[in-house]
Amino acid sequence: MVQNELFVNECGACHTLYPPHMLPKHSWQIIMDNLDEHFGDDASLLENERKAILSFLIQHNADTSTQEMSYKISKSIGSEGIIAMTQTNFWKNQHQAIPKRVFEHSEVRSKANCKACHNDIEKGLIEDDKIKNIDAFM
Ligand code: HEC
Ligand code: HEC
Repeated sequence: MVQNELFVNECGACHTLYPPHMLPKHSWQIIMDNLDEHFGDDASLLENERKAILSFLIQHNADTSTQEMSYKISKSIGSEGIIAMTQTNFWKNQHQAIPKRVFEHSEVRSKANCKACHNDIEKGLIEDDKIKNIDAFM
């Protein structure tokens, strides 16, 4: 996956580095326009950094990707102003069999902590053979 140093440093500091191709253009725009109120945190950036990251995200957004996952997430979001993969019906359907206590486990803590279970997500992938056995979190 193409990478961008500013994006890695700024957007991987608090959580999984969500790949740009996991959200469509309009979702990234909403996120990057509201960094001062970002899921309860202030993730504000200098304006030139904000613009550089936004342009990187847009360049590689879900609508430009050929990955099946990107297509499914984009389709699930449609024209809605959803800015989190975890709020899409696609994501909910894929994870509905996972018991709530797994997401509450001390090594997971949040549905948005993708990398606790998907070892390759920061490389932009979600391969079946890289999904951690959730029995470890039961
Ligand atoms: C100061 C900490 C902080 C920084 C810096 C930060 N975020 Fe976040 N972000 C959060 C928190 C907190 C959440 C909510 C996580 C949760 O639900 O467990 C979140 C959630 C998200 C989500 C939704 C994940 C999901 O599907 O539920 C996206 C997308 C996101 N951030 C993108 C970004 C981008 C892009 C950047 C860089 C511009 C960034 N974040 C920088 C704190 C941060
Ligand atoms: C607690 C562990 C856990 C967390 C956290 C988690 N996932 Fe998953 N995910 C799974 C498991 C297990 C499966 C396989 C489910 C199945 O096949 O029944 C899966 C399946 C998927 C799939 C479908 C893969 C395929 O081949 O069809 C996608 C896409 C996905 N996850 C994305 C994400 C993203 C993005 C995040 C973070 C926003 C996330 N997951 C967070 C455990 C997790």
